[in-house]
Parts: sequence; structure tokens; C-alpha cells
Amino acid sequence: MGALRLSPVAVMFKHVAATVIVLATGFCTMFFSSDHPIEYIRRWQDDYTRFRRDLHAHPELGFEEHRTAQRISERLTALGIEHHTGIGKTGMVAVIRGREASPHSMGLRADMDALPMQEESSRPHASTVPGRMHGCGHDGHATMLLACAHYLQETRRFAGTAYLIFQPAEEGRGGGKAMLADGLFERFPVERIFALHNWPGLPVGKVAVHSGPVMAACDYVTIDIEGCGGHGAHPHLTVDPVLVAGHIITAVQSIVSRNISPFDHAVVSLCGMQAGNMDAKNVVPRTARLVGTVRTFHAETQEWIEARLRELVVSVASGFGAKATLRYDRIDPATINDAQQARFAARVAAQLLGEENVVHDLEPSMGAEDFSYMLQKKPGAYLRLGQGGSGERHGLFLHNSRYDFNDEVIPYGAGLLAGLVEAGLPLVSGIRDQKI
Ligand code: NI
Repeated sequence: MGALRLSPVAVMFKHVAATVIVLATGFCTMFFSSDHPIEYIRRWQDDYTRFRRDLHAHPELGFEEHRTAQRISERLTALGIEHHTGIGKTGMVAVIRGREASPHSMGLRADMDALPMQEESSRPHASTVPGRMHGCGHDGHATMLLACAHYLQETRRFAGTAYLIFQPAEEGRGGGKAMLADGLFERFPVERIFALHNWPGLPVGKVAVHSGPVMAACDYVTIDIEGCGGHGAHPHLTVDPVLVAGHIITAVQSIVSRNISPFDHAVVSLCGMQAGNMDAKNVVPRTARLVGTVRTFHAETQEWIEARLRELVVSVASGFGAKATLRYDRIDPATINDAQQARFAARVAAQLLGEENVVHDLEPSMGAEDFSYMLQKKPGAYLRLGQGGSGERHGLFLHNSRYDFNDEVIPYGAGLLAGLVEAGLPLVSGIRDQKI
């Protein structure tokens, strides 16, 4: 049997047609079905920048994020994404199912709350609420998780379920704990969980992740000293609580320098003192109060510092004939990344950003993070995302009154979160581009 013979003109036509088809297919693949979540999301840069700046202009404190949650909910509804509100008061969970069924799941979490501080900025999107400011970039975190939801819903290039957790009240008000108490993981059973925080000083396009401690445990201390008040000109008839406070302040500095291993890390900071009346320059007050914070990475260190504080406070005061009590409140546990999940996140980041943009040894922060409560329940990791390091605006550290989240970062954070879902819940068929 001979092969079908074509005329020279027909052969030429066939080649030209094939070339056109190949070029057209290539163009469509590049343009319409970008495999790269960061590039895909970058097309929405302007829209999500506007959304972020609107949140920035309307900051709300923990458990008061009604407008913020409402704005996010409106967007999720418009995108046709199932979501559940009122979890941990103002918290919310969006549920997105991949195009293939699977029992596996992953959680992504972002915080939404602002700080009780005054913004010092003349930017058009500066806070419109006196004494309230998005000084930590949680407006950006919520926006990135929303953009990630948009991408996952539109592409659904994964198998199983992604739970996107919009958490309230991260700034010391217990939002993470409140969501867990509200049955977060019973209602939305994530197998593993990830979160990220923008990080000033780390260049845009870079991400830092490592296993082990990444953020410290945060405890608060309140020391009440009771002496005996009297006339400033007759101090021998008083027990001066201001003098006792001074000795306690000095004595507690010996804890880190003399009781903690030089190979461990800890901070004891007394940050506030209240005693007497500034108008009463000749009155020795009866009481004094000191407040401060303790930061640690290990439970044994935390226990030891609390014990040493208690001994020092009581004994220094009694040495002066005063009484002192210590109130020790544990606010957030240390944020500890699971080794396997940190390696997984680093691998995904390297695929999306290039290995040269993954920082494996950024030193842990003595700041605290209530994502730690979620990491105590589920394996996962907390990533730090480059917010930029040059120029005053983006180089300013978190909680600075002139800080502002860098909108350029939105596609990186949203794409990275989406990449974790696609890599962690891979399609069994391996066919990523159908239905796009
Ligand atoms: Ni923060």
C-alpha cells in the first residue's frame, strides 16, 4: 500500500497551516493559561491595589473588623466562593474545591486587624479613623488571601479542598484562639496550614522560611509594689515604692544575662512604670506599677524566666520592707515551623521565585504571632515575604507610624499561597490546563 501522495502546493499549504496552528496554540497557552500563579494574579494588580488601599483607609481593631469582613465577603460572593462568616466573632472561612475530588485539604490563613495607633502620613489612602492604623500590613495579608481565592476559584488546578481563613484580632486580642474555640478545625478539617507576613528589609520577590522557631512566645508581666507613702522631705518615715521599682528594674536584667544559656534567646523588657503624681513633687507614693514583656522560644526557658522573675520581684521588695506581686500572662506561644512543611514551602517558593530568592536563614523574630495556636494543632509553616528594603516607605519596620504595605508584593504573596495549594494538593490527572 502506497502512502497518500500530496501535490507540492498541498504540502506547502500543510506546513504553513501547521506552523500557524503551533504559533497560535503557543500564544494561547502563554496568554490564557499561564501556569504561573504570580504572573496570572499580576493581571489584577490595579484592582487588588485599590481593594487594599480601601482597607488601609478604614482600619478596624481586633474583633471589630465588620466592614473589612463585609468587603471580603462581598468579593467572595461575587466570585461564587462558598464562605462562612462569624467564626471567632468577625472571622471568616472560604471553601474552594479543586477540579478533582480528593480527601486531602490545606489551610491558608491571613489576619485582618489594625493597630490602636495614629498614622502619620499624607498619602491619599491614609487612615480615615483617628488612633487606628494598618501599621502591620494585615490589610495587605487579607488582600493577598482574597486574590489567592480569586485565582484558585478561577483555575481550580488542584485536587481536594482549600480552606482560606480570614482571621480577626491577631494583635494581642486572641483572634486565632477564638477561631479555634469556635471549632475552626472541626468544621474545616485542614491537614496542614500556612500563613505569611510581609517583612520590611527583605527585598520584594524574596521569601524567607525555615524549620523550627520563627516567632517568639509573648508573655506580659505586671508588677505591683506596695510601700508606705509619706512626705518627700521625711523619707525615713516611708517605704518608697519608686526606689523598690528601680531596684527591681535593675535586678530583672540579670535574668537573661545570668540565668539563660548564651546559646538560647530571650528578652525581658520592662516597658512602663507608673507611680506618684507628676504634680506632687514632694509626695512619696504608696504604690508603683511596672509592666513589661518576656519573649522566649522554648517552654523550659519561659518557665525558668517566670520563676526567676517571681523570686526576684518578691525578694527585692521584701528586702526594702515593701510587698510586691507579679502577674504573669501568657499571650501567644512561640511560632514553630514543622520541618517537613517548611521544606515543602521552600521548595514551592523556589519553583515560583527561583532558588536564589528563597532565604533559608533569616533570623527568627522576637515578635509574636498568634498563628502559633494553629501550628500547635496542625503541621505547617509561617513564611516571611519581602516587602522591600529601600526607600523610607517600604523600608520602615512594622508598627512604625509611617509604615505602609507595599502593593507591588500582592501578586507574590497571593501567587505563593496559591502555589502551595497547587503543589500540596496536586491533580491526579496531571492535566492542569483543561477548562481554562
Ligand atoms: Ni502583623
